[in-house]
Amino acid sequence: MNQPLEETSTPKATNIVWHETSVTREARAEKRNHKSAILWFTGLSGSGKSTLANAVNSALFHRGIETYVLDGDNIRHGLCKDLGFSDNDRTENIRRIGEVAKLFLDAGVIVLTAFVSPFKADRDTARSLVSKNDFIEIFCAANLNVCEERDTKGLYAKARSGEINEFTGISSPYEEPIDPEIIIDTGAEELDTCVEIILEKLINLKIIPCN
Ligand code: ADX
Repeated sequence: MNQPLEETSTPKATNIVWHETSVTREARAEKRNHKSAILWFTGLSGSGKSTLANAVNSALFHRGIETYVLDGDNIRHGLCKDLGFSDNDRTENIRRIGEVAKLFLDAGVIVLTAFVSPFKADRDTARSLVSKNDFIEIFCAANLNVCEERDTKGLYAKARSGEINEFTGISSPYEEPIDPEIIIDTGAEELDTCVEIILEKLINLKIIPCN
């Protein structure tokens, strides 16, 4: 069972007072000539989240846009190295990433998060931390057959043989997004096409200038 939200949403500390920052998000956007946003990539392991997030990251970087990628495998080496893959640990993982992504948003950066983030409720909690246009959920929809066939990290074979437990898609659930801002069939589309779809969305939402 996932931890109920009530237990995690109120600070444990008392006597803490919010301090307004001296440089606003709006001022940063004006100076940099682009807005910030959270691009939340979700999908099975091996669905291409990290590959696509990094390709979009490069494309934006070359346009002079401030960006940063938060990647599940990398973050689990540091900030989240105390977490495993139980339902509760995944919920805590995504809670932390939602909060970190919100900080990047405030810092005027387009932050790209590449996490399996298998539970709808956890993704919705991350979404609820920010305003409507700030959160763009991108479902990397390569299906289980494709991901398992690719098995780039050899983890599906280990999950099938029982060497890895609680593996998403095999022995742990993945709840597909119901109404994400973008769905990309990362099992079939070319990488360049996927990148273009996302850049176009950012231009249409006036997050980045069109050039
Ligand atoms: S999440 O479920 O909490 O969002 P996260 O994205 O941080 O997962 O980490 C997933 C990555 O960890 C996968 O891409 C894979 O490389 C690795 N991994 C190792 N064990 C598991 C597992 N049991 N389930 C899913 N991914 C795993």
